[in-house]
Amino acid sequence: MILITGAGGYIGAHVNKLMHDKGYQTIVLDNLINGHKEMVKWGEFIEGDLKDTKLLKSVFEKYDIEAVMHLAALASVKESVEFPQKYYKNNFQYTLNLLNVMEKFNVNKFIFSSTASVYGEPEFIPISEEHHLKPINPYGKSKLMVENFLLEKSKKSDFNYVALRYFNASGADLSGEIGEIHVPETHLIPIVLDVALGKREKIAIFGDDYPTPDGTCIRDYVHVNDIAAAHFKGFEFLDNNKSGIFNLGMGKGFSVKEIIESCEKVTSCEIPTIVEDRREGDPAILIADNKKAEKVLKWKSKFNNIDDIIESAYNFQIKI
Ligand code: UFG
Repeated sequence: MILITGAGGYIGAHVNKLMHDKGYQTIVLDNLINGHKEMVKWGEFIEGDLKDTKLLKSVFEKYDIEAVMHLAALASVKESVEFPQKYYKNNFQYTLNLLNVMEKFNVNKFIFSSTASVYGEPEFIPISEEHHLKPINPYGKSKLMVENFLLEKSKKSDFNYVALRYFNASGADLSGEIGEIHVPETHLIPIVLDVALGKREKIAIFGDDYPTPDGTCIRDYVHVNDIAAAHFKGFEFLDNNKSGIFNLGMGKGFSVKEIIESCEKVTSCEIPTIVEDRREGDPAILIADNKKAEKVLKWKSKFNNIDDIIESAYNFQIKI
């Protein structure tokens, strides 16, 4: 059985579905603070928190857990700047709690949801795993602290891990039954689609004076099902008794304006925009170098067309 933490969240729900489709039984742990019960459609659901050691122990006692996919975390860069302690606690301290319980029950396979935020301001593009690690916000720092700890832990024991550094997760499962819901929503694609759906008046572009061809920030948008597929590949990789860290991105970048244009194309709606000041902590360009995941995990993104990614997001959003 596989324990998936945070499976009520956007990425966790897709990972849970994929593991179920692959024939695995899953135990799903989520405190539902940011996750949604209706996104947990597979596996055995346990509502609870990672700080609850007693609960964790009871889960490991009751089920024969082979591996843990750990996606439960707080993931708002902006909030992390306002409330750093909350981020270090939830993302670092509670992960240590989970790892301690895993150790007690001899569970040695761990797949960790990391982020491109661990790199900080990029020195070169595309960003490979060897790039410097200088996160510029508590969110990225808290994830890097876990990565550092995992490295130490794996050196000293039979414990193995895969850390997946996601770039910009986007899109939704093609069934339309699960997708991206954040309250409040801060991510570009769902906000632009809300404008198309008449739920918002316009989209604010955060800065058009960046050193990019059209002046707006460039990001690497990777489909959430591709991210889910990498979790499965990572899980298989752990059978080699090795650990590894991998970037997950499409390997191509799109500017904010290009995303808006694609949304207009997919929805056949004109999307009003307004230019606002830059958002603090936004690097101009983030694009993943995917070579390592391709070579070692045999993983490659299958969604390589931004219109298809946005269409999948739209098909979900139109229903909610
Ligand atoms: N943007 C706007 N207007 C908006 C929202 C976003 O112009 O209303 C811009 C942002 O400035 C940025 C781009 O759109 O340039 C993408 O912004 P998102 O908020 O969608 O995503 P981020 O790149 O800020 O962050 C995401 C995840 C993080 C993760 C990071 C890794 O939210 O958790 O990708 O690259 F760490």
